[in-house]
Amino acid sequence: MTNDVLALYRRYFVDTGYERLGLFTLMAERFAGRRALYPGSFTHVTPAFVYPLTCFVDTDRRAARFFADPAVHDYVNRRKAYPEEPSIRFHRADYTQGFPEVEESFDLLISQYAGFVSQHCKRYLKRDGVLVVNNSHGDASMAWLDPEYALVAAINRRGERFNLVERDLASYFVPKRDIAVTREYIERTRRGVAYTRRANAFVFERIG
Ligand SMILES: C[S@@+](CC[C@H](N)C(=O)[O-])C[C@H]1O[C@@H](n2cnc3c(N)ncnc32)[C@H](O)[C@@H]1O
Repeated sequence: MTNDVLALYRRYFVDTGYERLGLFTLMAERFAGRRALYPGSFTHVTPAFVYPLTCFVDTDRRAARFFADPAVHDYVNRRKAYPEEPSIRFHRADYTQGFPEVEESFDLLISQYAGFVSQHCKRYLKRDGVLVVNNSHGDASMAWLDPEYALVAAINRRGERFNLVERDLASYFVPKRDIAVTREYIERTRRGVAYTRRANAFVFERIG
C-alpha cells in the first residue's frame, strides 16, 4: 500500500487493528448474501473483501476521493475472498436524504459508528436481509425498539476475532438503570444505553 489515498485506509483501520475483516467474514459465512450497503462508511472498504457487491455512502470529501481512486479497486482485488470481479459503488450523499439505489435490494446493511443507519436506510434492505449494528451511537438500541427488526444474534470481539452468540438473546438490552428507553430518549442522547450485558455488535433481521 503505497498510494496516498490508501494511506487513509491504513491509518484509520490497519494501524489501529480495527479493520473488522473477521466481522464481515463471519456475517458472510453465517448469513447468506452477496450485496452489502454501508452508509457512513468513511474509507472503511473492508466489506468489499468479502462481499462481491458493496455500496458505500458518506458525505465526506476524502471518502469520495478514496472510492474514486483505481488504487482502491486494485487493493480490493488483491484482498478479496471471492472469485469474481468486485463491484464497488460510492455515493457522496447524506444517507438521511436517500441515494439512488433500489429499495429492498441489499442482503446486508452495515451500521458502525455513524448514527441511525438502521432507521434511515432500512428501505434499501431486503425483507429477511440482515442489519449488523453496534451501539456506539445508539443505533442498536433503535433497532431493538423497531418492530420491523428482530434480534437474531449478538457478536463478541476479541481483537480481530469475532464470535456469534445466538442463545440467551433475551438477556441483552436490559438497561442498567431504571429508565424508559424510548426512540425519543435515544435520539436525544445519541449514545448507546448502558445495558447489563454488552456485545460488540448485534444482528437484526428485517421482518417488516
Ligand atoms: C465515526 S465515522 C465511522 C466510519 C466507519 N463507519 C467506521 O466504523 O470506522 C462516521 C462517518 O459517518 C459519516 N456520516 C455521518 N452521518 C452521515 C450522514 N447522515 N450521511 C452520510 N454520512 C454520514 C461521516 O461523514 C463519517 O465518515
